[in-house]
Amino acid sequence: MAVQTRKIGLSLGADTCWPLCFEGILQELNPTVRVGKDEVRFAVDRVRIKPFNLRDKVDYDLVIDRLTYWYAPTREWLKKAILMDGTYVWNNPWSIESNQKHTAYAAMMALGIPIPETCMVPPKSYEPKADLAVTLHRYADLFDLGDVGRQLGFPSFMKPYDGGGWVGVTKLDDEASLRDAYEKSGKSLMHVQKGVIPFDRFVRCVGLGPQTLLMNYDPSAPLHQRYCLDKDFVSAAERRHIEDITLTINAFFGWDFNSCEALLQEGTWWPIDFANPCPDSQVTSLHYHFPTLVKAKLRWALFTAATKRPMRKTLDWEPFYAIRDKHSDTAQRISEYGKLARAHFDEERFQEFCEQQLAGLDEAAWNWFGSEACRDAVRKKVEMIFPKHEWDQFTEHFFQSIQSWRADDKAAREPKVRQHVLAGTEAEKAAAKPKKKR
Ligand SMILES: Nc1ncnc2c1ncn2[C@@H]1O[C@H](COP(=O)(O)OP(=O)(O)OP(=O)(O)O)[C@@H](O)[C@H]1O
Ligand SMILES: [Mg+2]
Repeated sequence: MAVQTRKIGLSLGADTCWPLCFEGILQELNPTVRVGKDEVRFAVDRVRIKPFNLRDKVDYDLVIDRLTYWYAPTREWLKKAILMDGTYVWNNPWSIESNQKHTAYAAMMALGIPIPETCMVPPKSYEPKADLAVTLHRYADLFDLGDVGRQLGFPSFMKPYDGGGWVGVTKLDDEASLRDAYEKSGKSLMHVQKGVIPFDRFVRCVGLGPQTLLMNYDPSAPLHQRYCLDKDFVSAAERRHIEDITLTINAFFGWDFNSCEALLQEGTWWPIDFANPCPDSQVTSLHYHFPTLVKAKLRWALFTAATKRPMRKTLDWEPFYAIRDKHSDTAQRISEYGKLARAHFDEERFQEFCEQQLAGLDEAAWNWFGSEACRDAVRKKVEMIFPKHEWDQFTEHFFQSIQSWRADDKAAREPKVRQHVLAGTEAEKAAAKPKKKR
């Protein structure tokens, strides 16, 4: 038996609160897990940005990356770490770079998942490039934007093909607003999408490996109140359906960590935004749900690092298309994709690992989320985005949201203990009863 240490790297930008929680809980838990004949321990640090030789050995077993979508030096370092050293990375950097929102719509449409009708339009203006004028002159068709609007109907949405953070998203109520939004879109490549309006429900589902966190969502609320607190907003079957869609997208694109927004309209769930491979992880937006996300990150991180989960360098789409071709019913297809996705994320082995090796995580996290170190992590994030006179108020607000999660978490774990005690009491009572004579 050997004792080994797995190294986890956090590749961060402005992320502030969750890494502090992640590191703090890991320190509190200080796990040693069994993998085969080995005892495995963990070390975590933050990835530095500096020159690197392609042959420099990368000794991270896992990198949780938050920079690839906008910061090329780290993205390129990650690619070479995967190619040269087999580092496991959330998320596949090639896939982030090439599969934008628009491709994600096309892929899920191809798999037969209901996706609102979407049209791409050539940009309003361009960066000057040597061959631009001749290309457009020869091949660009004049088009009537009004046709696009009439094809999709109103309301619809114009948004960047690769967007995020609601930047450049415009709701279009009529042809005039479509024309106006296009005039203002500049050099951005935009698509126009049929609005799922009105909708009966709006949810956001985060996937982390095989784990999911489904939240009711109110897009009209201010940022820190969009994730709602209600629990029974979908049936068990709907929950499974949305989770299947989320995990399908994630397995298809090689994204261990991604979120999916879906809207319910007349009995059909329509995913509308699901290429978010650097999903929001901040306490200032997730509030009550934040600890659940941090714990999910820890579980999947410890599992992927401990078991040295092999990093898939390329994507494999054919099994999804094979399912599509085998089944014609949408619900059945989605359920089959879900099974494939859960197998991709090694769901059974992961659950066994959590039960057998991470039994202490719930308690360690519960303790840590009540600590002054946690309050401090919340404050650090609050100080980044709120004006100074609101720091105390919002630190308290978000810390109390976490405390309310702690109360619920404790209560949810307690019945098991109580039932156990009661069962013991009943059993004791039965044992103490004088046995009837035959
Ligand atoms: N087809 C649609 N039907 C109804 N509402 C939509 C549709 N597309 C976008 N919206 C609304 O616009 C918002 C922003 O659009 P979208 O989520 O696609 O953009 P984003 O920039 O990726 O947002 P973020 O990254 O913050 O989630 C959605 O949360 C939703 O409220
Ligand atoms: Mg969105």
